[in-house]
Amino acid sequence: MKSVVNIDDLRKVAKKRLPKICYDYIEGGADDELGLITNEQAFRQMRIVPRYLVDVSLRDQSTTLFDRTYSSPIGIAPTGLADLFRRSADLMLAQAARDANVPFIMSGASSSSIEDLGKLSPDHGWYQLYSANDPSISEDMIKRASDAGLETLVFTVDVPGNSNRERNIRNGWQRPTWKSKFEALRHPAWMMEWLQYGTPYFGNWTRYAGPNASAKAVADLLASQFSAPMTWKHVERYRELWKGNLVLKGIMHPDDAVRAHSLGVDGVMVSNHGARQLDNAPSPLEVLPTICQAVGDRMTVMLDGGIRRGLHALIALCMGAKFVFQGRPTLYGVTAGGVAGAAKALAIFRREIDIGMAQIGANKISDLGPQFLMSSNEQQLYRTGR
Ligand code: FNR
Repeated sequence: MKSVVNIDDLRKVAKKRLPKICYDYIEGGADDELGLITNEQAFRQMRIVPRYLVDVSLRDQSTTLFDRTYSSPIGIAPTGLADLFRRSADLMLAQAARDANVPFIMSGASSSSIEDLGKLSPDHGWYQLYSANDPSISEDMIKRASDAGLETLVFTVDVPGNSNRERNIRNGWQRPTWKSKFEALRHPAWMMEWLQYGTPYFGNWTRYAGPNASAKAVADLLASQFSAPMTWKHVERYRELWKGNLVLKGIMHPDDAVRAHSLGVDGVMVSNHGARQLDNAPSPLEVLPTICQAVGDRMTVMLDGGIRRGLHALIALCMGAKFVFQGRPTLYGVTAGGVAGAAKALAIFRREIDIGMAQIGANKISDLGPQFLMSSNEQQLYRTGR
């Protein structure tokens, strides 16, 4: 870990620790994995034009979101099955986020429970809901999140069905191939944990699978709860039930953002699920300006997908996002080094954001705006107000 300088270094350490089947699960996208490239390219194509002769000695990257002030404008997106990569990873991520004073979103497919999160860090923990076929399950989860003292509920809308992730098919994600099993033997630290703890549970779902249900029975229950159509009626119902901040994650079209606003939703996370669902979808950064234009002054617009550098976060903020999230980088971190690894990922972003702000002449996050941006394709300055 000492030699880790950037997020890609962390990725390499995580890759070494993990069996290929697990690493591919984190890293993979849908179909031809064009979306992974699209997400990262979108940032590479942007240029930031620096302004000099500005006193940047009092730089402050703290950012207020839903009436809470965080130390940095970048949080941890929900990633399911994290305990498969390191045991208690969900809570390690939550702890790292709490210590860094940034938000952590617990996945609807986490191993630890909403109650664990509420005990550890109610002020920084958000919960991400996957809509279940049985409405009583979703409604109970919403009540549990509220009882645990969480303030923000994130409803993920971009999983209308299973996507085509071919790395998982080849590795035998549902039923690992012999090749995958033998390959796993080459990762002894991971293997020891697996032998010690067995298959991780989906901690929020165990109570719905009956007493003493096995990890597999809980996983089967979760899978069986994913087949019903998910519609705006669900948003209406969750809005009725959830009194805190409600965020829709996976919004990619301005009309959907407008509709979300009309139903009383507080924020949208512009996201394509880390390019894991629809391969030819645009990158979140590409659609961000139209979504900000449509609702940016009325609701909180956030973004995730492809952020690997502090400058990427600054670009998204200049383009109108109020806050950004990342998924894989802190997952690499927690896999590589537990709480310290996740903290390292957050510290790398924090440091790079700070350096970036100094380089462009920004002292505060509210200084950022389109006046700093230029697209490398269009060679044109974005001049419109925020
Ligand atoms: C995810 N993502 C995700 N999203 C969600 O709403 N619920 C979930 O359970 C998961 N699970 C998940 C697992 C893994 C292994 C990954 C990599 C991603 C998507 C995630 O929240 C986020 O949108 C993307 O990870 C953002 O892209 P980057 O930062 O990974 O490029």
